[in-house]
Amino acid sequence: MNLQVAVSSVLISFILFFCTNGSAKLAPDYIVPCNDTSKECLIRSTQLAIPEFVKGIPELGVPVLDPFVIKELSIPLSGLTFTFYEGKVAGFRKCIVDDVISVLEKRKFILAFHCNLTIKGTYDAKGRILLFPIDGAGDAKIKLTNLRMKVDINTKYIKDKEGVNHFAIKNYKYTFDYGDRVSFELQNLFKESKQLSDAVLQFLNENWKTVAEEFGKPIVDYAVDLALRTIEVFFLAVPYEELINVPIPKF
Ligand SMILES: *[C@@H]1O[C@H](CO)[C@@H](O)[C@H](O)[C@H]1NC(C)=O
Ligand SMILES: *[C@@H]1O[C@H](CO)[C@@H](O)[C@H](O)[C@H]1NC(C)=O
Repeated sequence: MNLQVAVSSVLISFILFFCTNGSAKLAPDYIVPCNDTSKECLIRSTQLAIPEFVKGIPELGVPVLDPFVIKELSIPLSGLTFTFYEGKVAGFRKCIVDDVISVLEKRKFILAFHCNLTIKGTYDAKGRILLFPIDGAGDAKIKLTNLRMKVDINTKYIKDKEGVNHFAIKNYKYTFDYGDRVSFELQNLFKESKQLSDAVLQFLNENWKTVAEEFGKPIVDYAVDLALRTIEVFFLAVPYEELINVPIPKF
């Protein structure tokens, strides 16, 4: 009798141990896997995850995305070199998800969203912007209002060393538009003249669209590349099955 109790309690602890171990999940609780690939669920689930995901997941090696820092970024323009230093990009946590499309068997994942972002740092610039000769350095702040973006990702499915399935990113492309407004605060565009600095800054702001189109792309490229590399780290850490409750297509 006693032996039987002992055996069954060992058995129970054994089962408990394996069950809890087997269900140990890696994805944080704010990742709510969808049971299908409907737009409604994917949008809701993605929107729910963004504010937390951008804080980073240190235990999985996922870096912080809001804010993230662009240490140094040179933007070569015809006739002008503009360099951004310690550009702190903030605002991703409040991005609004407009669309999510996932076609698992075609390995397609499309994400559309819009955000207000600010980039704060310092800069120096030498050369010309549009018609103006520039020789400046100082604080810089750029604000983007309702930047719209659509990222089109070709995914793949991979198995890790333990035979666990994961999403991975094969390649991606994206389109964006600068949205409602981009505003620039660039101190001391001309070291010698505050008046000229203010006048040119005003001109840049009045022509924000042309200016953004002329020098915004390297910054956006940088941000998108960082975001996708971050998502990939997350994909490689968390099993496919914890991200979506739909069987993986044959691969
Ligand atoms: C998926 O199904 C499970 C089990 O029925 C349920 O608990 C969960 O809430 C569903 N997920 C979503 C996002 O609806
Ligand atoms: C961005 O800011 C504008 C103006 O302040 C506001 O109307 C808009 O809803 C904001 N967009 C997002 C995505 O937060």
